[in-house]
Amino acid sequence: MGLCFFLFLLISTFTIANAANACDRCLHQTKVAFFSTPNSLSSGACGYGSLATTFYGTHLAAAVPSIYKSGSGCGACFQMRCKDSKVCSKEGTQVIVTDLNKNNETDFVVSGRAFKAMANKGMANNLLKLGVVDVEYKRVPCDFKGKNLTVRVEESTKKPNYLALKFLYQGGQTEIVAVDIAKVGSSSWTYMTRNYGAVWDTSRAPTGPVQLRLLVTSGYDGKWIWAKTVLPADWTVGGVYDSGVQIDDIAQEGCGECDEQDWKS
Ligand SMILES: *[C@@H]1O[C@H](CO)[C@@H](O)[C@H](O)[C@H]1NC(C)=O
Ligand SMILES: *[C@@H]1O[C@H](CO)[C@@H](O)[C@H](O)[C@H]1NC(C)=O
Repeated sequence: MGLCFFLFLLISTFTIANAANACDRCLHQTKVAFFSTPNSLSSGACGYGSLATTFYGTHLAAAVPSIYKSGSGCGACFQMRCKDSKVCSKEGTQVIVTDLNKNNETDFVVSGRAFKAMANKGMANNLLKLGVVDVEYKRVPCDFKGKNLTVRVEESTKKPNYLALKFLYQGGQTEIVAVDIAKVGSSSWTYMTRNYGAVWDTSRAPTGPVQLRLLVTSGYDGKWIWAKTVLPADWTVGGVYDSGVQIDDIAQEGCGECDEQDWKS
């Protein structure tokens, strides 16, 4: 037990250090393309399925492995604008990561709706015709407008022991690096592991109502976020449950030179 906990800490610390190296909030330059079929993103690697169409006005993005981060980048939000000032606005738009982009030529492939949202008034079709554009982007906190962090019980769940949860509407600018669950009122916590994308699972699920705590990257350390009752006693597969908490932290990173960079308006 002691050793396990030590290993867990070690792994968490490693994950946090790794996440901090990415310097998400720096301004980055890349090219961006768009998906021509609207459904290709909702079947994305993060596992959001059709729920993704409820995110950010379907401003969805598939991101390269360095941003997707084996799934911990799922649900991260980015401000993005194209650099062609004739066609594109200065503000650009925001997108949320819902998929993995395996094409190494652009950091993101975004939904047509997100792509068009970068255009100046009346220029959307001109932008679409370009197909691929130079953009600059930076990570920004996600704002789900009053929604709390929410979990969905996945279909792969097998009562009584195997439980798979998907996290939705994760606010702020952090990554979830650990998830523990326990029966409500119990201090006997069981860790979950990331199965894929935004889905975490355990084969040692408690019965009855479930409480949850999450370790997120925040500051230069982790921060535990505690949710009281997340799954009620009568939770069901496919059920979507409000955690009653939201994350609004912004992970601080040591980014050196990038501290001087600005999103110039
Ligand atoms: C992208 O991947 C292809 C195929 O693996 C490779 O040939 C090419 O050099 C890569 N391009 C860049 C810019 O990394
Ligand atoms: C979020 O959680 C708070 C605190 O538990 C609760 O009062 C509020 O109703 C929740 N918000 C939504 C949108 O469910």
